[in-house]
Amino acid sequence: MDKLLITGGTQLNGEVRASGAKNAALPILAATLLAEGPVTLTNVPRLRDIRTTLDLLGRLGAHLTQDEDGVVRGEPSTLTRFDAPYELVKTMRASILVLGPLVTRYGQADVSLPGGCAIGARPVNLHIDGLRAMGAEITVAGGYIRARADRLHGARLIFETVTVTGTENLLMAAVLARGETLIENAAHEPEVADLADFLIAMGARIEGAGTDRIYVQGVDRLGGAKFAVMPDRIETGTFLVGAAMTGGRVRVLNTRPDCLEAVLQKLRECGARVETGPDWIELDMQGRRPHAVDIHTAPYPAFPTDMQAQFCALNSIADGVGVVAETVFENRFMHIPELQRMGADIRIDGHLAVCRGVEHLTAAPVMATDLRASAGLVLAGLVAQGETLVDRIYHLDRGYDNIEAKLAGLGAVIRRTSATAGEVESA
Ligand code: UD1
Repeated sequence: MDKLLITGGTQLNGEVRASGAKNAALPILAATLLAEGPVTLTNVPRLRDIRTTLDLLGRLGAHLTQDEDGVVRGEPSTLTRFDAPYELVKTMRASILVLGPLVTRYGQADVSLPGGCAIGARPVNLHIDGLRAMGAEITVAGGYIRARADRLHGARLIFETVTVTGTENLLMAAVLARGETLIENAAHEPEVADLADFLIAMGARIEGAGTDRIYVQGVDRLGGAKFAVMPDRIETGTFLVGAAMTGGRVRVLNTRPDCLEAVLQKLRECGARVETGPDWIELDMQGRRPHAVDIHTAPYPAFPTDMQAQFCALNSIADGVGVVAETVFENRFMHIPELQRMGADIRIDGHLAVCRGVEHLTAAPVMATDLRASAGLVLAGLVAQGETLVDRIYHLDRGYDNIEAKLAGLGAVIRRTSATAGEVESA
């Protein structure tokens, strides 16, 4: 199993290019199931979750391929089956995103329930309720969601909780439904707006995506489209936090500063000089130690839960005390015991993590538990004294495009190894 070996103590400096956003590319790939015509997607990150999605679509009969530059091409109108099996869904919860497109275009879908995951229960009841309100007949049995429908009809859908993939699933269902759909308390995440832009490029009629009220006028069919996926704001934020923790100066290119306001505000609060241009962000820490910051995660445009672990890593070596409140997921502090093993002084109290910054972390073998937790541990490794071995980085590979090459390009001493901890020590 691959691991990352990081020698802490070097500053991150230089320029790095953000990849396309995983969380935009995944729903957009699912939305290709709606296209009657060829599709070309550029700026698709090269990641394990993308390969899993292409495998899933291929299994359904929609053959799309990704080239070396990340461009995905194909003609997805050749479906032969309509199911997403447990083996695939358990490796990637976002497989649930094929549910809406399959039901609305083909009237049938059998999708495994994702079940729990490392960061909490993560139910999909709101996806199911929304499709039912649009006329789908849904039964849940044997661990599968079985959905059947003639043509879906529009409906007024009000989410009781803001859900990102729930909004995306119902948006994709609504674009081919008969009549008007209004989605209220919709997720504002920029990735929802990116998906809507792709659907509009295919011929959908959508207004308000990116706000809490999305209005859709259903159409009879959608064509193919050419579309560039938006940049990854979480990957961008991860590099900026790395620069802040190491006292360095990093410019992230090909990114979207407008999608990172809450994160940039916290980075300024921790003492960084942050400048932005139309498609770049530069953070300069001028060799200083960051101040600890308080964080409260919440749906966009507030501070993203997907940046929480990285800021816990920052707070662990910062000057002062930072209180991190996780309000989106109930069990998203799995990185903290690992940070504690590196010497961090963090106390968990329910959904709060109280981080008292220490002067130095010390390297230790640590275990990644989910995607963003892994990113937090890698950042901690960049500043720890000694060699940190981050195990189970398959989580990291799900969502970061070539992270070790990008960090090495900024000056980090980092390499991938498939050896065990014992083998590395004796090598
Ligand atoms: C998406 C992102 C993930 C991010 C999360 C929150 C993708 C592929 N993943 O995950 O990276 O961390 O948004 O920004 O885009 N909920 C319910 N019932 C439902 C659906 C959700 O109760 O039917 C709850 C969840 O348990 C959670 C909250 O709503 O507490 C938000 O979850 P949600 O926005 O759905 O997360 P995902 O879309 O799975």
